[in-house]
Amino acid sequence: MNCLICKNSITPFVDFGKMPIANGFLVQDQIKDEYFFSLKVAFCEHCKMVQLTEQPDREKMFHENYAFFSSTSEYMKLHFKDFANSVIKLQSLTKDSFVVEIGCNDGIMIQNFKNQDIGHLGVEPSKNVAAVAKEKGVNVVSEFFDVTLAKKIISEYKKADAILSANVMCHIPYMHSVFEGIKELLKEDGLFIFEDPYLGDIVEKNSFDQIYDEHVFYFSALSVSKLAEMHNLELVDTIKQSTHGGSMRYVIAHKGTKEVSQSVKSTIENEISLGLDNKKTFENFANNVANIKTDLHAILSDLKAKNKKVVAYGATSKSTTVTNYCNITPDLIEFVSDTTPIKQNKLTPGAHIPVLPYEEFRKAKPDFVLLFAWNHAKEIMSKEAEFMQSIGAQWIVYVPKVEILNP
Ligand code: SAH
Ligand code: TMP
Ligand code: ZN
Repeated sequence: MNCLICKNSITPFVDFGKMPIANGFLVQDQIKDEYFFSLKVAFCEHCKMVQLTEQPDREKMFHENYAFFSSTSEYMKLHFKDFANSVIKLQSLTKDSFVVEIGCNDGIMIQNFKNQDIGHLGVEPSKNVAAVAKEKGVNVVSEFFDVTLAKKIISEYKKADAILSANVMCHIPYMHSVFEGIKELLKEDGLFIFEDPYLGDIVEKNSFDQIYDEHVFYFSALSVSKLAEMHNLELVDTIKQSTHGGSMRYVIAHKGTKEVSQSVKSTIENEISLGLDNKKTFENFANNVANIKTDLHAILSDLKAKNKKVVAYGATSKSTTVTNYCNITPDLIEFVSDTTPIKQNKLTPGAHIPVLPYEEFRKAKPDFVLLFAWNHAKEIMSKEAEFMQSIGAQWIVYVPKVEILNP
């Protein structure tokens, strides 16, 4: 196996076994045709990139029935409004400016540019979520971003003052084509700003459920700075984010055009002290993950033996890794509550646990609730506190370790 970035040889440090498409919610009739692949992760000692060694074809994941709608979280709406406003200020954007967002989904971020009358274009290959963005009045091209599309955007529009992307770069295996596209599409004084779940948090929190088919890369400033260099671009700033269980925002410019912030140096130093440049760190992570698997299965089996009612909250893409890797079957969890209509009354990928609308969660009065959407813990725990208390229910979490939280 070879590194997707530098082509050197790599070997996996963790193997989660056979996995289905993380967002492939399905009905009974589709089970016989369900697709599986091997979910394994490797660390490249040469360019420091952490990556999947196998990934399903992109059309199997991103299509007209894509199940993830960004705007289901109120907190994320505010986060992206702040993100957009910070870029407007940083680049002094006006109606004559041009902002491109890669993977705009239902328009959660780019609508803020549209609302302030700033020239913009969203790129979103999944047609159903792209349609929601279009309904909001946002300009959207429903294609996969790569160097070919970048050239098309330049010829049909112009070069961009800012190229933005959130939770998308880590989804794209053909990263060199994306960076070639950025290099061409970005104006001389433009900025490419993207954020993704941060490798440092994944290692520190043992959040192995960030690992699933869509997430081909697990970035750090160490790996991103090297990737940028390969395209004559430069990492000029890193800004830590609390979203998705801990993310990092990377600011990239044409090499030599902007001052490099002190934070790039301190982030990289911190990564070295965390061991993100050392394969031992990842072997250790694999051990911790194996312990979580044992503990989570044991706790759920014990609750079942005690006849407790256990349900889960949030049919996240992340939970596909948890249920399949930890062997969590429908006899251990009665159902998963989720507010997304396209997921409701379907079965979770691989484990085939029913997904039911939120109202069923209220009716079920569970004894224990396994929090799959732990990245939204603050929002969810505060809005459910009163209800959980009124029925005497307790949360179960599994990162950084398996725990039943006190009511
Ligand atoms: N930016 C949103 C959506 C993240 S989900 C948010 O942070 O909530 C990832 C999105 O990336 C999906 O909507 C998917 O369709 C899109 N995507 C996948 N590959 C892409 C590519 N090559 N170019 C643009 N978007 C892509
Ligand atoms: P995410 O972790 O990929 O953001 O997905 C979160 C999932 O959890 C998504 O399917 C919506 C669901 N959800 C709820 O059901 N209730 C909630 O309050 C929140 C915030 C999310
Ligand atoms: Zn490499």
